[in-house]
Amino acid sequence: MSSLLVDNIGELVTNGAGEGPLGIRRNAAVLVEEGRVVWVGPSPYAPAADRRLDAGGAAVLPGFVDSHAHLVFAGDRAAEFAARMAGQPYTGGGIRTTVGATRAATDNELRATVRRLRGEALRQGTTTMEIKSGYGLTVADEARSLRIAAESSTETTFLGAHVVPAEYADRPDDYVSLVCGPMLAAATPYAKWVDVFCERGAFDVDHARAILACGQAAGLGVRIHANQLGPGAGVRLGVELDAASVDHCTHLSDADVDALAGTAHSDGSGTRTVATLLPGAEFSTRSPYPDARRLLDAGVTVALATDCNPGSSYTSSMPFCVALAVREMRMTPAEAVWAATAGGARALRRDDIGVLTPGARADLVVLDAPSYLHLAYRPGVPLIRQVMRNGVTP
Ligand code: NIG
Ligand code: FE
Repeated sequence: MSSLLVDNIGELVTNGAGEGPLGIRRNAAVLVEEGRVVWVGPSPYAPAADRRLDAGGAAVLPGFVDSHAHLVFAGDRAAEFAARMAGQPYTGGGIRTTVGATRAATDNELRATVRRLRGEALRQGTTTMEIKSGYGLTVADEARSLRIAAESSTETTFLGAHVVPAEYADRPDDYVSLVCGPMLAAATPYAKWVDVFCERGAFDVDHARAILACGQAAGLGVRIHANQLGPGAGVRLGVELDAASVDHCTHLSDADVDALAGTAHSDGSGTRTVATLLPGAEFSTRSPYPDARRLLDAGVTVALATDCNPGSSYTSSMPFCVALAVREMRMTPAEAVWAATAGGARALRRDDIGVLTPGARADLVVLDAPSYLHLAYRPGVPLIRQVMRNGVTP
């Protein structure tokens, strides 16, 4: 069994015991054995190890946990982006364009896109990435999307209810039956979660409830796209169904915030249902940003994720999302970094990632900077010097 000591860490973000909400330790070291953190402490007192990685006084933090991404697709929608930047609104209608391209693609073309984007994210510090289906929307295309997603992540999500595809446009009830029946059955072997785009123009709250309940009965965990384009009952539906996460949360009423706050754990460790904010989507659709401060002040656990997809948010960069959240969503740099690491882990109901404490997976990032603050302070700068997943450099 070979051990690795990462030492001479100027500022270690543990998200566990230590200074402030990020559990900061200075002049620290982390000992890794068999892909796990086994010891964290002051660098001068570190135990001996077979190998050593000298962080050179830089900051080290848990790898980013991107809990919301749509990587299985073909083509891009750069022209739609250009039209939006010239004043067109985002409606979600472009999803059907990507569905057409995805259905026409070969398995290997889809696989290459997933690998390219997963690699891109990894180089920017993302050590865990959730991947959704949702651009196939037939039984066979949703199943193959998830099969390909499962090659790159264990956090896979069935999003057969992304939009009603054109061939079902005048019979949405029939499409919901297909999603709950044969499509779910074909998806379940490759999926851990079920998700629905609950929004005007996609699925209403009754259809969303039916689909999420079927997924739950099949053993999948619940997550939901809610309150992105306007107010609605999606967030409250997520709470009703014990969703791990309600995602977007751009348009929230006081009742929505209260419902999320009502899922608080009794030990003060935050809420059972996490609000996942996706500022890349507001950036790329020129929409108002969600108000993270309002959620945080109400005690709601907040996660940040990229929403990486060819329509509303074609970024794989968690550092970019951290910077946006700080500048535009009233989060402090510490809150944003927590949300992009431990928050993402909570949104996936994981306690083995998003933290650097004994027992956790050795998923970490060495920055080209002395502090996590630089992730927001130096936006757009490639600050990820080294990434480690399961204790090895991927
Ligand atoms: O999360 N809102 C629904 N789904 C994606 C957008 C997908 C697309 O435009 O292709 C999202 O923003
Ligand atoms: Fe999304």
